[in-house]
Amino acid sequence: MSQGALPGFRDFYPEQMAERNYLMKVWRDVAARYGFVEYDGPPLEPLDLYKKKSGDEIVGQLYTFTDKGDREVALRPEMTPTLARMVAAKANALRKPVRWFSIPQLFRYERQQKGRLREHFQLNVDIVGEISAAADAELLAVAIDVMRGVGLTAADVRARVSDRRLLAAVLLVSGVAEDELAGVYGAIDKMGREPRTVTEDKLRAAIGNPDATAKLVSTLDSFGDLDAIGSRFADSPDVLDQVERMREYLRFLAALGVGEWVDFDLSIVRGLAYYTGKVFELFDASGEFRAICGGGRYDDLLSTIGGVDMPALGFGMGDVVLSELLRSRRLFPPPGRGTEYWVAAEDETMLADVMSVAGRLRAKNRSVEYALRSQSLSRQLKQAAGAGVESVVMLKRDDYSRGNVTVKTLSDGAERSMTFQSLLDSLR
Ligand code: HAM
Repeated sequence: MSQGALPGFRDFYPEQMAERNYLMKVWRDVAARYGFVEYDGPPLEPLDLYKKKSGDEIVGQLYTFTDKGDREVALRPEMTPTLARMVAAKANALRKPVRWFSIPQLFRYERQQKGRLREHFQLNVDIVGEISAAADAELLAVAIDVMRGVGLTAADVRARVSDRRLLAAVLLVSGVAEDELAGVYGAIDKMGREPRTVTEDKLRAAIGNPDATAKLVSTLDSFGDLDAIGSRFADSPDVLDQVERMREYLRFLAALGVGEWVDFDLSIVRGLAYYTGKVFELFDASGEFRAICGGGRYDDLLSTIGGVDMPALGFGMGDVVLSELLRSRRLFPPPGRGTEYWVAAEDETMLADVMSVAGRLRAKNRSVEYALRSQSLSRQLKQAAGAGVESVVMLKRDDYSRGNVTVKTLSDGAERSMTFQSLLDSLR
């Protein structure tokens, strides 16, 4: 019996590989356009790296084992802790702000569901060493430009942005206690995916003070409206300060030309524990798919992991949801041109001549195939058509001994006789 891949793991047949390569090319091109440089780290890391700061959700999904040297190790479920370690280790030597990107394959033992697999490739773009909101805007613009790069528009994809400091200010001034914040974040993070009554129950469970819960519940409807938050909490300097910071960020996004993609949404919290400031997620506007991308500021992670105090921010964009979206919109480009030339011979004894012609065409940087065993010309032509080549270079014994070949264009069947040398000379 043949055995398939493990659940949640993919085989990439050539068609899927072409899609993956296409996506990665867009990722690399856009990241480069913003001046980010590529790095990578190890796929296997010490388990402790994730236990420290990733948060319970990811730690519960780790592929982890004890290696032969008795080390507790884990396949990387995300890139951010590795990045934090790498940058912290060379913090003094690096030009700041650090603008790095990477495309790791990541592993999480997820519950099987649409848009979530047990391995995925994730574009990671991060900036380290800059506190200005200009850096936050720059980062989100990269994610949005990737959307443009694959042919999506602001009608297809929305960027929802928030700031944990603004949410914290709203919660604290509403009467939520400092040590209840994490629990409340959890409830609010899931708000968009759950009925309101479930969210309210969770808030009641997480918050000790019933007045605070009531105040918060009455604010939930304003979570998508920055001005409304500003007026509701007009007597709280902490909230107003954060509202102003959010406005500045939105102005920067508009200046970068991506403003029309962005919605303010205070319910965006992000599941990972290390975020400290602005956070964002990209979703398809129809609400059909899971998050395309998520990220934000994590100003304390480098000091937790590497002992250096450097602000940082970044995002991860997986290939799974984005590919589902592109397939559903038929936005993947048609398969690229395959082989350019097929070399065929009318005479079954000419295989070595065919190989020599193929070799010289390849030396001119042309892609070339031929039948790997002698066979009739009609079968060779059939194979050439099946391979989708543009032209067949045909060798006829007498002609070829005088240095001539016949080039047949498959689209119109036209044949031209020429010296092989002139064919080579015509190829730059
Ligand atoms: P994350 O939200 O866990 O963030 O993942 C980011 C994106 O990766 C998701 O929006 C989704 O597209 C994709 N993704 C995550 N898990 C899976 C999965 N099991 N299957 C398919 N796709 C998945 C992070 O990982 C942060 N480390 C991102 C970051 C970078 N923050 C700062 N820098």
